[in-house]
Parts: sequence; structure tokens; C-alpha cells
Amino acid sequence: MLNEILNLVKAQEKWRGKQCLNLIPSENIMSPAARSLLCSDFAHRYTARDRFYMGTRFADELEQFGEKIAKKVFKAEVADLRPLSGHIADWIMLTYLAERGDRFMCVSPEDGGYPGMWQNGLAGVLKLKIAAFPFSKKDMNVLVEQAKEVIHKFRPSFLIFGASLITFPQAVKELAGAACGVDALVGYDGSHVLGLIAGGQFQDPLREGAFALFGSTHKSFFGPQGGIILADREHGEVIKARICPAFVDNAHWNRIAALTLALAEMEKFGKAYASQVIKNAKALAEALYECGFPVRCAHRGFTQSHQAILDYGSYDQGRVVAERLQQADIIVDCAVRVGTCEVTRRGMKEAEMSQIAELMKRAVIDKEPSNRVKKDVAKLTCEFQNAEYCFA
Ligand SMILES: Cc1ncc(COP(=O)(O)O)c(C=O)c1O
Repeated sequence: MLNEILNLVKAQEKWRGKQCLNLIPSENIMSPAARSLLCSDFAHRYTARDRFYMGTRFADELEQFGEKIAKKVFKAEVADLRPLSGHIADWIMLTYLAERGDRFMCVSPEDGGYPGMWQNGLAGVLKLKIAAFPFSKKDMNVLVEQAKEVIHKFRPSFLIFGASLITFPQAVKELAGAACGVDALVGYDGSHVLGLIAGGQFQDPLREGAFALFGSTHKSFFGPQGGIILADREHGEVIKARICPAFVDNAHWNRIAALTLALAEMEKFGKAYASQVIKNAKALAEALYECGFPVRCAHRGFTQSHQAILDYGSYDQGRVVAERLQQADIIVDCAVRVGTCEVTRRGMKEAEMSQIAELMKRAVIDKEPSNRVKKDVAKLTCEFQNAEYCFA
């Protein structure tokens, strides 16, 4: 039994950790130091706001320390590292905002919005009415003038920007005035682009009219899997007070230790990391386009984020491509988003993006036997086994 379990973990470490070329934009790798903190004594411990548990002195200190760095990195008045995932951060925020009214606007899943926010997800559970932002699939962005009209007619009590398929900064600044006109608050689900925002290389929602930025800490942000909320003081303190016991009881202090270290890494190395992630995404998109892949938004330079989108029309078509790539140990999802967070963290630059595009071409367009492509994928990945943009 023991061996079976250990062998599964070893196989995962070898395949996904060492051999595969991971282009999933929702994933990343931690530094070895951050990863090692997941196994620290904090992994076994509880704390509680009402001081029910003794023995929490260092966890309390860690929480203060982590929040302090988070506030600095994101220039936020309030930070909370307790949400256990991006989805839970969304849930905390929607529940808070829903008290102001039952109508809100966000990006539709059809346009790349996060399905967990929509009718089958949190909006359905909380019985909220949603209007989608009018959206241009061609430009992969919210249509500002049409959105202003919908805001005036629909009179939402809040707007949530951000999306899963996000390639360009969204019109937060442009729509903040219209939102204010109907007394709507603006929030930003930065799950995908958090690392780029932390590095100062994407839009800065908290300076553009959003009162809160929230989401996952493990996509373009290279922390452990988890969530974060950053907000202004007026709303942030109220949200903080509601988190426990309603949404998070045990906050997983080992995760918060790792997140705190990732925040410190981001403070020091975030600018260089985020700018290389974006350069790599553009370079990969361009090289794929030249190889004949259907990359979206050529007229806009493909992307300004950590991902580019290959347009295969449907997830079923996308799955065919994703499976073919998987046979060659190149990992993408069925939306065929190609993300550059992990390859950048491993130290790859523009030259390697051309190599990746060529490998993808051989697997998908030339339909070369996958074993041959896989060998060359392994040659490339074995040169990039370490995490960069970290202290040691
Ligand atoms: C925009 C957006 N928000 C929230 C989430 C949920 O994040 P998590 O997987 O951390 O719960 C996702 C997941 O992909 C997402 O894309």
C-alpha cells in the first residue's frame, strides 16, 4: 500500500515535474524554499480568531508578516491570506457584495469569464441576477460604450472584472465612472493575472476604480495553491471580519507560510518575472502564428498577459489538439490557452519560445510520431529544472 502511494507521487514528480513542458496558464511552480514550507510544522496546527487554541504565537506573527508584505506588494490598505482558493475568495466577495443588491455584471464564460462565477456556480447558489459585459471576441475585451448602456439600464449593484481567458487589460478605468453613476462597486477577480499585477506589468485595478482585488495565488502569481483578498480600508475591514467562521475555519498555516515567502519573492523579483512572462507570451504567440496555428488577436499583437489563445472553435476540437500535445508531453487545456508562467519561472526566454512553437508544430501540424517529439521536449525541459526569480 505504502509503495503504491509513493510510486504514484514519484511518477507524478518525474512526469509533470521534470519531463513535461507545462503551458497551462493556471499553473506555476513554487521556489524550493516556498515549497518546503508546505511541509513545516504549521501544516499540523490550528488558530482561531477568538483565541480558542493555544500555541499560536508564531502563526499569529506569520499572519501579520504576510499581510504586511501583501499590502506592500499590491499597494493595498487591507490584505487577507486566509481564503483557501481563488473560488473561495470569489465566494467571500460575492456574498459581501450581494448584500447591496442582487444584480451584478461580469464577463460571460462564453467570452472567457470564470464559469464558477456564473449561473451554474456562485451566482446561481446566491440567486444573483447577472448581465454579461458586452464583449468583443475579436478584440478579446469589454465593449466600453455598450457596457455603459447596460450599466445604466440594468443598474447592477456591483461589477466584477477579470476572467479566465484574459489576454488584455480590461476597461476598469473606463467603466468606473458609469459604475459610480448607479452606485455600483467595482471588484476585480485577478486570479489569472495576479503575478503580473504584483510585478507592475499589467493593469492596476486598485488604482483604476476597483475597491478590491482578489483571486488565486498560484497561476501567474507563483505561490502555493490558495486565495487572497486585497481591498480598501472601508470595505476590507468588514470583509476580513466575516471570513471566519463563515468561509474559512482552518486557514492552513503551512500554505500561508509558503505564500508569505512567495510574496517576498514577488516583492524582490516580481518586476523582472512578470515582464519576462509577458515577453514570452508574445514571443510564443507570434512563433505559433508563424507556424500556422490559429492564434487569436493577431491584429492586437496577440496578448499583453501570460497567455495566448488558440482558436479551435470548441472544447471538443480543442481536446483533440490538447490530447495530441499531451502525447508529446506538452501540457495545455482544452481551451488551448498557452501560458508562459511556469516556463518563465523555470528560466526560459524568447529563444525557448521559438523552440516550443516548433515542437508544438511537429506534434499538431506535421503530426510527427509523438515519441520523436517527446524526446526533444525532454531535452528542452531537462535544461530548465530550477525555479528562477527566487532568493536561492
Ligand atoms: C478568473 C478565475 N477566478 C477564479 C478561479 C478559481 O480559482 P481556484 O482554482 O484557485 O479556486 C479561476 C480558476 O481557474 C479563474 O480562472
